[in-house]
Order: sequence, then structure tokens, then C-alpha cells
Amino acid sequence: MQRTNVCGELRLSNVDNIVNLAGWVSRRRDHGGLIFVDLRDRSGIVQIVFDEAALGAEAFDLAETLRNEFVVQVSGTVRARSEDTINPKMETGEIEVVVSKLNILNKAKTPPFYIQDGIDVDENVRLKYRYLDLRRPEMQQNIMLRHKVTMIMRKYLDEQGFLEIETPMLCRSTPEGARDFLVPSRLNAGQFYALPQSPQIFKQLLMVSGMEKYFQIVRCFRDEDLRADRQPEFTQLDIETSFLDQDDILTIMEGLIKDIFESTLNVEIKTPFQRMSWQEAMDRFGSDKPDLRFGMELMDISKYLGGSEFKVFNSVLESGGQIKVIRVDDYADIPRRELDSLVEYVKIYGAKGLAWIQYSQEGVKSPFKKFYSDETFETIKKATGCKTGDLLLVVGDKASVVAQALGELRLEMARRRNLIDPDKLCFLWVVDFPMFEYVEEDKRYKAMHHPFTMPRKDDWSIFGYNETDDTFSKPAKLDDIASVKADAYDIVLNGVEMGGGSLRIYRSDLQEKVFEAIGLTKEEAHAKFGFLMDAFEYGTPPHGGIAFGLDRMIMLMAKRKSIRDVIAFPKTQSAVDPMSHAPSEVDDKQLRELHIKSTVKKSQS
Ligand code: AMO
Ligand code: AMP
Repeated sequence: MQRTNVCGELRLSNVDNIVNLAGWVSRRRDHGGLIFVDLRDRSGIVQIVFDEAALGAEAFDLAETLRNEFVVQVSGTVRARSEDTINPKMETGEIEVVVSKLNILNKAKTPPFYIQDGIDVDENVRLKYRYLDLRRPEMQQNIMLRHKVTMIMRKYLDEQGFLEIETPMLCRSTPEGARDFLVPSRLNAGQFYALPQSPQIFKQLLMVSGMEKYFQIVRCFRDEDLRADRQPEFTQLDIETSFLDQDDILTIMEGLIKDIFESTLNVEIKTPFQRMSWQEAMDRFGSDKPDLRFGMELMDISKYLGGSEFKVFNSVLESGGQIKVIRVDDYADIPRRELDSLVEYVKIYGAKGLAWIQYSQEGVKSPFKKFYSDETFETIKKATGCKTGDLLLVVGDKASVVAQALGELRLEMARRRNLIDPDKLCFLWVVDFPMFEYVEEDKRYKAMHHPFTMPRKDDWSIFGYNETDDTFSKPAKLDDIASVKADAYDIVLNGVEMGGGSLRIYRSDLQEKVFEAIGLTKEEAHAKFGFLMDAFEYGTPPHGGIAFGLDRMIMLMAKRKSIRDVIAFPKTQSAVDPMSHAPSEVDDKQLRELHIKSTVKKSQS
């Protein structure tokens, strides 16, 4: 038997057991006639001891050749460590294994970095040698956590009557959403498949098929600009249900989240989760994914600042903008240098400037002090709950800019002032999203979630809904579409959008109206989504669903800053794999077969 036990499981109760272990040499310390080796496998690390006196010269010589990352198999006896050699930092620290037989299964080159936690190594190097990076205990923990979570998901959803159903990876390219990854078709010259951005349309078709409750743990592909929490291919837990309303869906999902977090982390999760409208989230936190682990909410002080000689605020207010603040407690003595850096910080997020009020011991300091009376500063102090010693950071602009700039500044100040409790889990449903958002670049509205999202029934009249005969026969008032709200919801955890979903449109007449609102004519909509609209003519149940970003969920659970740390083989920020060197050039022959010609000159390599 190669092994009777795994390294990490041995305890005092195993003392005197004769065990076979196998694993990697993690560390070796040579003490003359004694060699101590930390032996590592997936379960953990245990100290094994080679004692020349007991082992004999020949076997001991072999032990002397051991180097880090050699793969070995040993037989030995578990013994308790003496009081002074107990290592409380190791789970197996009360015992060690005295080796009686060593078998070197394989040697190893010196790895490019230490196989241990908390290394400070360039991520490109880690990704180039990902197979070694994944050997590090913390990475193995992440991967094991991910496995546990998907197991719990499957079990929970199965118990709730959901069916796991696969959907195609080679799909039709459809407009809306992010940029598609395309796959040329060899058999159909000049035609392309698209990799799915999500199984959205298929899962809705499965509802038409009467599957009622669907889920899938599925890879999705989006050709977007990447960030720490975005990968070109990522995994969703994708869910769709029929005959449930929004509350039913959210309740089932809360149960799922509770089960996942409580079964894997040592925490208690209280349900139901807090719910907040999109508008409230924007007003109070300047974000549709507010981090509720700390306060520092945005406050509107516009009404105190009108009618002065201060041009900046006057023009903001005259053009319908607002002036808002965040309060940073006990930081009135912020260094001028830091204020200057904060001005630069908010500019990244579109603000034209940043002002402040310092309620310091020596009195009020502010760049706009001379334009307002002392009473005004006193009134603002009261209204914003300031005490002497506090700081207000002020941004004036149109609402969307104020929200973004102050929302980001709020997060930045919380990080700088250490206000975030890393152990807190603050779940939040953001609900009542606007149905559409205006895209300046394209000069048109697009669906904020996606165009299959159900507009709230109260707002159907804007699309020309006639309640008496249940048709869309009245003229639509498309000028008002900015005000349409959707039956859409996001689940936010600690300021990260962990998932999102909606109730869906299940009438083809309403679906057509929504396409029209985003500038797709009936003909265009039919050319692109005709199969979905056709399907809707054959008896479609009311349905809705959600998709969780699995990578993001695991990232949050494992308290990592990047989803790359919880994906076995991720891509870099520039969407390449430094290990396999994907993407790569291909032979001209391959291209010819695909009826494709590249306009890019081949590199010389
Ligand atoms: P949405 O586009 O909001 O909804 O995606 C759902 C969740 O997937 C995660 N996610 C990502 N994770 C990593 N990298 C990315 N590039 C990335 N993009 C999204 C996020 C997000 O909340 N079909 C709809 C869901 C539905 O309506 O049922 C959808 O895909 O955590
Ligand atoms: P300026 O006229 O651009 O030099 O701005 C004068 C002062 O007004 C700056 O030092 C800032 O303190 C403040 N300020 C400028 N723009 C804004 C803004 N958008 N929001 C808040 N304060 C601003």
C-alpha cells in the first residue's frame, strides 16, 4: 500500500501506529545524525524524522539526498513530540513520524519559487508555473473550497427539485451584452459561432419546454476589459425557474447562500437579507453594489450652498447638479498632501474637483470658506453629524458623477482609515433597477440587465399597454423610458456583485416593445432573436432566474483579492495564459480550412 494515512490527519491518537505516507518534501533540516523533513500532501504537513542510529547508514545516506519537492514514500511509527518540540502552529504539531523505510518516488528540479503560503512572487511567474503554484497549501485550500461549494450547490438545488441541464457552447452571436468570442465554422464557410456570454436564452427556452427548475454550473465567455474580479472565461451557477415570483426566488437563493456559507465557513448567516432599491443604494452609497461593512454614507448638502459668490457650486446647482459629502471621523487634521492626492483620486472617476471642510480644533478650514458665513458651516456641521475633529469631503457635479466619485472615495477612505472589518459578511439584495441606461457613446438606451428582463407592470403603460384589453395597442411613450423600473435584482456581498437576475418577459408583444426601446426594429429583433420570440408564441410560463458568479463567490469566501486565486488555470489581465501560451498563432492550413485570412503579419518567433 503506497499510503495508509494522509499527512495532515495524524494526531496524538495515532501514536505508535505504523503508517505509510506519501507526498512532497516541503522542508528539510539536517542536524548531523538527524534529518527532519516536513512532508506535504493535499491534507497538510507532518514532520518526519530520519535517525541515523535507528535507520542504518545506507538508508540515512539516501535521506541526505532529499531536496525540496522530491516525491517520497515512507514507512514509520508515529510518536509524540517532547513537550519542548511541540509546534502549536501545525495541526500535526504534537506528533512526528520516525521513518523506518524511505522510497524516493521521484526527484524534482529546484522550483522557481518556494512552495509555501504568502509568497511574494510576480503573478506572471506563478501563472507560468501554475502547476507548482497550485501545490501551495493556500491555493489547494481555495480549490478544495470551490469543490465543496459546487457540491453543496448541486445537493441543495437537487433537493429543491432543480434539474442540471447542459446548454451549447457553440451558439449564435447575438447583439447586446459584452463582446463575443467567435469560433469560425469549417463546415459553413464564412459563418461563425459565438461562445456563450451566459446561457440566458437557452435557459428561458428550457422554461418554455416545461423543465420548470433548471440549474447549471457553466462556463461563460465575455471579451471584456479585465479586472481583478473579471476573467474572459468565468463560471456561473446559472438558475431559472417557472411559476415563482421575485420573493420566492430570492428566498430559495438566500437558503442556498446560507447553506453554502454555513457548511464551509464557521459562520452563522441570518436570512432574509437586507433589501435596498437601486435608487437608495445610489443615493446613500453612490454605488449599485454598496459595501455595508461600514457607514460613511453620502449626504446631500446642496440646500445650504446656493446663492453665494462661489462659482463652482453655483454652476453645479444651476445646471441641476448636487453637492454631496462623506464624513471622515476624527480626520480634520488630514495632511494637505493627502488632500491633494484625493483630488487626483476623484478625478479618475470623472469629478472635476474635490473640496473639503475641516472642523479642526483651530476652527473651520475649507477652500470655499470665504464664500459662506460661519453659520452656514455650523449648519452643515450639525446636518452631517460632524463633531470638532471631523472632516467632510465634498464633491459637486451631476448626480451620476457625484455618486461615482464619492462612492469610490468612500471605499478608498475606508481602506485608508482601516474601517473595514474583514470578518464581516454583509449580504444585500439590490432591487428595482432601472430597466434601461443611456449609453452616451452610442446615443441610445440599452437594457441595464438584459433585454429579456421584465419591466415592472406599473411601468408597462410607457410601452403602450392597454389594461382593458391586455394589449400593447396604445402609442408608446418612449421619451419616458428612462423611468421604467425592472423586476431585476443583484446579490451583493461586501461591495462585490456576486450575482444578478430578473423576472423575464414572457409575452412576445412586450418583448418586441422592449427591443424597440433599445433601438432594435421588429425586423432586426426577429433576425437576431426570432427563435426566442417564436418560442414565446407556444405557451410560455412566467419565469425568472439568477446567475451567481462562482469565482467571485469563492474569492469572497476565501478572502482573496482576485478571482484568479480561486480558478485553477486563469488568464492574466491581458487575457493570456503564460503557461501554455494561449492565444497563439496557428498554421495557414488551419486558417484556410476555416476560410479565414489574417490581416496581421506573423511574428518571427
Ligand atoms: P450577469 O451578467 O449579471 O447576469 O452575470 C452574473 C454574475 O456573473 C459574474 N460575472 C463575472 N465573473 C467573472 N468574470 C466576468 N467577466 C464576469 N461577468 C459576470 C458576476 C455576475 O453577477 N444571464 C444573466 C443572469 C440572469 O439574468 O439570470 C447574467 O449573466 O458575479
Ligand atoms: P477651481 O475653480 O477649479 O480652481 O476650483 C476651486 C476649488 O473648488 C477647488 O480647489 C476645489 O476645492 C473646489 N472644487 C472644484 N471643483 C469641484 C467639484 N466638482 N466639487 C467640489 N469641489 C470642487
